[in-house]
Amino acid sequence: MTLLRSLCLFLIVGVVPAQGQEPILNFENRFLPEVAQHGMVAGPERLAAEIGIDILRQGGNAVDAAVATGFALAVTYPRAGNLGGGGFMLIHLADGNRQTLVDYREMAPARAHRDLFLDEAGEVDRNREFFSHLSAGVPGSVAGLIHALENYGSLPLKTVIQPAIELAEKGFPVSFALDSEIAARESRLRKDPEALRIFFQKDGSRHPVGELFRQPDLAWTLKQIRKRGRDGFYRGPVAERIVTNMEANDGLISRDDLAGYRVIEREPVRGSYHGYDIVATPPPSSGGTHIIQMLNIMEGFELEPWGHNSAAYLHHLAEAMKLAYADRSRYLGDPDFTDVPVAELTDKAYAARLRTLIKPDQATPSAAIKPGAELGYESSDTTHYTVADRFGNVVSNTYTLNFSFGSHIAVPGTGMLLNNEMADFAAKPGVPNAFRLIESEANRIEGGKRPLSSMTPTMVFRDGKPWLATGSPGGSIIITAVLQTILNAMAFEMNIASAAAAPRIHHQWMPDQLRVERGVSPDTRRLLEAMGHEVVDTRRTLGRTQSIVLDGGLLYGATDSRRPGGWVAVY
Ligand code: GLY
Repeated sequence: MTLLRSLCLFLIVGVVPAQGQEPILNFENRFLPEVAQHGMVAGPERLAAEIGIDILRQGGNAVDAAVATGFALAVTYPRAGNLGGGGFMLIHLADGNRQTLVDYREMAPARAHRDLFLDEAGEVDRNREFFSHLSAGVPGSVAGLIHALENYGSLPLKTVIQPAIELAEKGFPVSFALDSEIAARESRLRKDPEALRIFFQKDGSRHPVGELFRQPDLAWTLKQIRKRGRDGFYRGPVAERIVTNMEANDGLISRDDLAGYRVIEREPVRGSYHGYDIVATPPPSSGGTHIIQMLNIMEGFELEPWGHNSAAYLHHLAEAMKLAYADRSRYLGDPDFTDVPVAELTDKAYAARLRTLIKPDQATPSAAIKPGAELGYESSDTTHYTVADRFGNVVSNTYTLNFSFGSHIAVPGTGMLLNNEMADFAAKPGVPNAFRLIESEANRIEGGKRPLSSMTPTMVFRDGKPWLATGSPGGSIIITAVLQTILNAMAFEMNIASAAAAPRIHHQWMPDQLRVERGVSPDTRRLLEAMGHEVVDTRRTLGRTQSIVLDGGLLYGATDSRRPGGWVAVY
């Protein structure tokens, strides 16, 4: 298939045979078996998705493509693609039919402590928490991508990182999406001299759409990584530039913090829903645990007769969300520092008990819901992409700088933005964070600890085989966006394009508000209000999923068009 044809056909939704040389579909859309090898990348930005496909074309597997796309997004999608952040990569390996989760979440610097962001009056200093050098956790992305490649990829680092180097060095035309992302954060980016130098022209204006955007310092950093692998980032000249910048600005990240960064492979969290198997992200993300908890609650209700996005369905879903987020506030944190009762929270018997707390036609006030039934909303800016290859491997990867453009502070000479992931800790346990999520001591700041996340790369298996892989940005909204996408597909049998596009809701226990996207009918909203829900019309998008369905020998991709620039690349 030519690139031009792929661009035309798969702007929003792509369909290709999972195996074969040429996609041959007859008019009934049936897969004809005499076809060869194919793969798919669904992601937030076109150039990076196409780079993943080029890697698959060269014979690479889904992990090679995911790593290449990850490095490329650091160049083409600077609001969330990154070298200076962290994330989670869920990998399904066809060989052995098994899954693993690569945790490359940022770690708090060793000198970080519980009261890091409190002022003299004991109040949280939001500027320090979000927009200072103290906001940065020790980055995990470079270590995580290289770990995945070395353990599960098949191509050398220099092959998969080269396209990103070329994009940074030679530049690429500024897209409408990139320009609007920079414009949205312009005033904050201008405050940091290095971010100003990277993202704006010499006269201080934005790069016009269509003009080449070059990032020579970022190319230099990527070349250090190409030459020395992980050490090219965590030791030597790149590390020196990071540490020098930290020391000059009261930051905490030291040489030892960088050299000591640890990738951890974890067993994913697992659940089931009416015969489907769910494999998702374990702590230190809260995502997978609560998706499975909410699916367990919803499994006990008959959803079909209510109908999709009916008041009855949305009421029960919102009540399940409240119960899960109440538990999140109390129990979730880094499992290496605190006991997280994942088995209990994902237990079907526990869900059955919670289900009895849901009244069929009346909202329970959040204040009346206690975490555990006797047993923080984060930034909306993160990114997700999903990859499937011809060998049957699937990768679902979510990574982030936390806010769009992280702390908006760039490390001089590296082209790299610092994350502000330290804001995902509870700056003052028990007090709502800036996004009104309440978190407990389980997520207090401690040196070496990973902040609680909501990132939720997720896979659904049918008959033991991968069927749907997805994920989303959106902070605490990630969990409910992914939940609704997979419920739409599993319970309401929607195709992946409809499942991704359908209007969503979000409730996170506190504040006691039911956020509803445009597209839920006014009648339904009125019925929800009559049940006692405070319905808030959100003009913000509730997540942005990037999904692939593998069904009947075909790959179906859907990039959620809530935000501009997404792409399903295929070959
Ligand atoms: N920083 C967003 C998250 O980790 O969920």
